[in-house]
Amino acid sequence: MKESFFTLRTVMWDEGRVKMIDQTLLPGRLLYRSYDRWEDVADAIRRLVVRGAPAIGVAAAMGIAVAAVNSKARSIDQLKLELAKAASGLRATRPTAVNLFWATDRVMDVAARSKDVDEARDALVKEVLRMAEEDVAANRRLGKFGADLIEDGDTIITQCNAGALATVGYGTALGVIRAASEQGKCVKVIVPETRPALQGSRLTAFELSRDGFSCTLISDSAVGFMMQSGKVDKAVVGADRVTKDGFVFNKIGTYQIAVLSKRHEIPFYPAAPASSFDLKRTHEQVTIEERPAQEVVEIRGRRIAPKGVPVANPAFDMTPPELVTAIVSDRGIVRSPVQDNISAVIR
Ligand code: MRU
Repeated sequence: MKESFFTLRTVMWDEGRVKMIDQTLLPGRLLYRSYDRWEDVADAIRRLVVRGAPAIGVAAAMGIAVAAVNSKARSIDQLKLELAKAASGLRATRPTAVNLFWATDRVMDVAARSKDVDEARDALVKEVLRMAEEDVAANRRLGKFGADLIEDGDTIITQCNAGALATVGYGTALGVIRAASEQGKCVKVIVPETRPALQGSRLTAFELSRDGFSCTLISDSAVGFMMQSGKVDKAVVGADRVTKDGFVFNKIGTYQIAVLSKRHEIPFYPAAPASSFDLKRTHEQVTIEERPAQEVVEIRGRRIAPKGVPVANPAFDMTPPELVTAIVSDRGIVRSPVQDNISAVIR
């Protein structure tokens, strides 16, 4: 795999609009949509048009910038009121990924420091452009740190999509895989389909095949057997939030991969930029998003369960620190016991 291979750019600022890949259409169609109202950006985040912790953070920040650019406010106080409304609407879309709150706080701090409407608009646009570039740069740094943990010939299991599609570009868990490949290592990827929203099959298998990686799609139920059969060397997953006590919140299904990895002595590495660490909260203080039952009882609009059956649809789970071999971040590797070492790496 060469350094020059193309990776998708998922979220962009485009002359006063937020431009994003509509991930609900993948893998069938690769289509960008543009939004010039924060309400539509919020709706896109809620419906998983854009998804993945770093991507929704930057999209929400751009949603606030869109509100500023298109506002008719004549005074800075009026503009700040409008932006506060946009920020609270965007923050209400999804509760688990901390990047959403980190990103909206960051742009609201910029707005708070602005003295007039023009200065605020200008500063917000500059800030979101910076955030987008920083995201890709952080993923590249993270990828390099993580690549040192990967050996030539490794087969790596992942979960959900923690690739270019979950970020502005390059990816977190898939960033590690990209960087290992850029170092000349031959890696293969096992991709669980990730029910119910199928980010594994629809997005990760699409992204990896498109970029020329060797990947094998499996059903979620096949994870244990693949490990038992000796077909997995390492697990590298993303994270939507890492709490200060070392718990890793990630897409539902990650915890069972971590438990099975422990059973089969497979190193388990979450990969996350500093913006996904929540150094203020412990795991008890995090809300796990419960998504609509429709995602479970239907596949792509087709009913697969009896009418009226009760459904639980938690979108994320939580892996305790004792199952984590190390966390790969853009500031370096957080080694086990991760709960004791986070603060030295993420400052
Ligand atoms: O519900 P999603 O698709 O937004 O889920 C988030 C994720 O993409 C994963 O949990 C991922 O591993 C963390 S984001 C890099």
